[in-house]
Order: sequence, then C-alpha cells, then structure tokens
Amino acid sequence: MKLFDVYPLFDINIVKGKGCHVWDDKGQEYLDLYGGHAVISIGHAHPHYVETISKQVAQLGFYSNSVINKLQQELAERLGPMCGYDDYQLFLINSGAEANENAMKLASFYNGRTRVVSFAKAFHGRTSLAVEVTNNPKIIAPINDNGHVTYLPWNDTEAMKAELAKGDVCAVIIEGIQGVGGIQIPSDEFLQELRKACDANNTVLILDEIQSGYGRSGKFFAHQYAGIRPDMITVAKGIANGFPMAGVLISPKFTPVYGQLGTTFGGNHLACAAAIAVLDVMKEENLIDNAAKVGTHLLEELKGFKGIKEVRGRGLMIGLEFEGPAKEIRRQLLFEQKVFTGASGTNVIRLLPPLCLSMAEADDFLDRLHNVLR
Ligand SMILES: Cc1ncc(COP(=O)(O)O)c(C=O)c1O
Repeated sequence: MKLFDVYPLFDINIVKGKGCHVWDDKGQEYLDLYGGHAVISIGHAHPHYVETISKQVAQLGFYSNSVINKLQQELAERLGPMCGYDDYQLFLINSGAEANENAMKLASFYNGRTRVVSFAKAFHGRTSLAVEVTNNPKIIAPINDNGHVTYLPWNDTEAMKAELAKGDVCAVIIEGIQGVGGIQIPSDEFLQELRKACDANNTVLILDEIQSGYGRSGKFFAHQYAGIRPDMITVAKGIANGFPMAGVLISPKFTPVYGQLGTTFGGNHLACAAAIAVLDVMKEENLIDNAAKVGTHLLEELKGFKGIKEVRGRGLMIGLEFEGPAKEIRRQLLFEQKVFTGASGTNVIRLLPPLCLSMAEADDFLDRLHNVLR
C-alpha cells in the first residue's frame, strides 16, 4: 500500500530529538525553530516526560470514558489554576479540529442558533464545521460548504458589531494570534469590544488557542493580553508535547448533559499522563516566562535585520514577513544552515520553537539567519 500523498515533503528523515534540536537518519543535527508545528512545548524527549509516559503505558495505556479516570481529574485540577480558569470545565479530545467542532457544537446546543462568525485568513482545522470556519476555499469541500459562516475583516470593530447586532449569531471563533494567517495579532481593543458585543447578543465567544496557547505567547493564553474571558477556549498542539490530545475549556455558564459530547480516545490515561508531565515541566522550568523573555529578545533583534519587511509576534510565536516569496530563504535555512522553520502563505516565515529555547540557542538562530540574509 502507498501513502495517500497529500503532504509536500522535505527529503529529511528525522529520527531523534532532544530539547530544541533534532537529528536525521544520517546523524545531521538541526536547530528546531518550528517545534513540529508549534507542538513541542517542553522540548523533545524531556526526561521527566519520557519517564512519566513510559511508567503510565506500562501500567495502563487506555481505558474508556465509561469509568472514572483520576488522571483526567488531576489534569483538570492542575490546569485550572495554572491557566487562570480554575472555575471552567474541561472536555478532552484528540486534535485541534475536534476541539473546535465540539466548542461550536456546544455553542449551538446552548443558544439554538446555527450561524458562526469567523475572520479573514482564519484557520481552525480541516474537518466539518472547523474547516467551514477556516477562511481558505481550497480546503473547503462542497460537502463542508453549508452556509453557516460569515467571514469578517480582521480587527474591524464596526463590521463585527454590525454582524452581531443581527442577533442570530451562534458563536464567534477567533484565534488568540492567527498562526496559518501569518502571525496576525488581534488588537486588545478589538477583543474587548468583541467580548462586549457577544454578551449583548447572547453569542458564544470561542477563543482558538490551539497554536497561540499553552504559554507560547509569553502568557498562558494570548487573549490574556487583552484581559478578556472567553466562553470557551480550545487547546491542542503543546498540551501533551506531541502526544495527540486537545481540550475545550468551558465556562460555568454551560451545564453538561450526559451523552451530549463524547469520544472514544479523548482523555485516555496515556494522553493525560503526557499532559500532566507537560504542566510539571512548564512550572518547574518557568517555560512561560522563558517564552516571554527569549521571545522579546528575538523580536527586538529581528527588527534590526536587513531584508525583513515586518516582524510580528508575541513570545515564541513570531512571523517574519519578506517583500517577496520566503521559500528560498526557508530552504537555505533548512538545507544550508540546518534550521527548521515554518511557512505561512508565500511571504512569511513562522518561528514556533519549543518553549525551552535558550538565549544562546536564540542567538545561534539569529547568526544562522544572518548567514542567509547577508
Ligand atoms: C489555530 C489552529 N486551530 C486549529 C488547528 C487544527 O488542529 P489539528 O491539526 O490538531 O486538528 C490548528 C492547526 O494548525 C491551528 O493552528
């Protein structure tokens, strides 16, 4: 059998990782400024993570959601105070798209409506309603194109207020910082006005923190810069450092109903052990503060680089926008300078390193980027 060939691949076989470095099958080392697409939060093969999940799989890898799972309870109890949402409820699933599907489904159960507002360049996943609220017609199949969604311009308060005032919008879904869209930050004022407009119109506010959350922005969630509290927050990627897991953080105003949401694999014992180990390391090693500190350093230094049109970001979620296509720069970074980075559209390079990136590793990256841009 062949693989279904949907990924344009680099001809590199990564076989090992440690901290912010990975190695290919020929023993070549790479600096990882991509984190496997913002997934590696505490660093590759962290010893505490390896030990925790090894012990868990030897004990019990999986049992179903029909019995008590103390690890789910422990995760919820630990996550609440760490992220500032101790009074919220946690529903666990397996991927970012699934988190957004469940959040929008719950919003619709809540207010009985079917219309969703999303924004230009938004990315929320590739399934059903998650792809419909994704502003990319190329990946929306006819079967997903069901007229639920109105896309509004980014940071446009008047357009947003006018749409919500119609009184029939079920939910607004917005990224804490747009990732695929090229590292676009919603203004604090826009998020504050959005919060007010959602309250005024009984519309559910869903913050997609799948890429921007879990400490990446230098706060636990990127929307916390604006001081707002969404009705639901979706998380995935960094939550379990590469073990497939996701969650929806749900405000107390939603009452759970038996059977309304559910999943076979979501919140399994092994995934919870991985997610608890991530929280242990984030706390022990102050990774959120590190993301803020090293991110600020990178942002300041990058702004002085010749050849970069604009630098945007917060913490360790950084976009470098070039005048023209960035493909060749990214290729040289990878094949000549041995640095993994991410892309966004044609002109933007994305930096999404593990949150344990050190100052020395950040400077090493700046040197390697300089070698390409000089
Ligand atoms: C903001 C955002 N939402 C949702 C998703 C979808 O997550 P997944 O690929 O785990 O379904 C992604 C993935 O890149 C994302 O960046």
